[in-house]
Amino acid sequence: MTLKEAVLDAKARKVAIGHFNVSNLEAVHAIKEAVVETGFPIIIGVSDKEEEFFGRDEIVALVRMYQAQGLSIYLNADHAYSVERAKACIDAGFDAVIYDGAELPPEENIKNTKEVVEYARAKNSSCLVEAEFGFIGKSSNLMDTLPEGTALEEFLTKPEEAKAFVGATGVDMLAPAVGNIHGMLKNMPNPHLDILRIQAIAQNTQIPLVLHGGSGISVEDFKKAIEAGMCIVHINTEIRLAFKTALEKGLAENKDQVAPYKLLKPAQDAMRQVIIEKLKIFNNV
Ligand code: G3H
Ligand code: ZN
Repeated sequence: MTLKEAVLDAKARKVAIGHFNVSNLEAVHAIKEAVVETGFPIIIGVSDKEEEFFGRDEIVALVRMYQAQGLSIYLNADHAYSVERAKACIDAGFDAVIYDGAELPPEENIKNTKEVVEYARAKNSSCLVEAEFGFIGKSSNLMDTLPEGTALEEFLTKPEEAKAFVGATGVDMLAPAVGNIHGMLKNMPNPHLDILRIQAIAQNTQIPLVLHGGSGISVEDFKKAIEAGMCIVHINTEIRLAFKTALEKGLAENKDQVAPYKLLKPAQDAMRQVIIEKLKIFNNV
């Protein structure tokens, strides 16, 4: 299946495709193992910094290899803050790119997003273009307080503005601000999602919606959000936390161990566990 077919299939069956960020090979292996074990499709995402660390050619080659083996693994350029990066990833053969102009004035976000959409149509028509419309913070980290300018009613995406944005840009998918935030709050649960707003945005735009900031969201909110129109769910912080916690435990318990493959295997297994747990929620099993 192309990514477009997989997303439209998820939309029709009211399930969601898991999008998991990677910055190392252990995370990629954890994702591949989860796809083999569950049979569910997965999108691998790399942000600017994750791509810089991993290598663009390297992650493209790996995903192409898995696709050639018949695995439903797709590659997304997560949060491209520059039109140049979005175009470079389209040229490199990514299955999707996210142009993130959420912090820009709306007219500039529209202009740049439109430029990326037209470039994709001209250069690689199977590459889906997603846009951020509503700011939800920028970092997949543990936080003491809400990122500034997020989650409160006044900052959430207005359905009628989402409709106008989609009409003006022609994007394939939209990531709105519906109470979600990037990262996880340390001492309290992340905010609840505004399910009625998701329904209204889905109704107004009639395109697949994408839920960013999945870490720390409750199972109940996930299920309601997917029912309301979310077709892809992004998870990063919880996977990073699983990696770090397992690695710290391994290092503490095996002070003399120097073999990376022995130190990193428990961290890989911990990430796979989180990924499979989320896939089961997103696919109602
Ligand atoms: O694009 C990546 C995600 O939106 C991840 O968000 O770190 O809150 O799970 P998260
Ligand atoms: Zn995101």
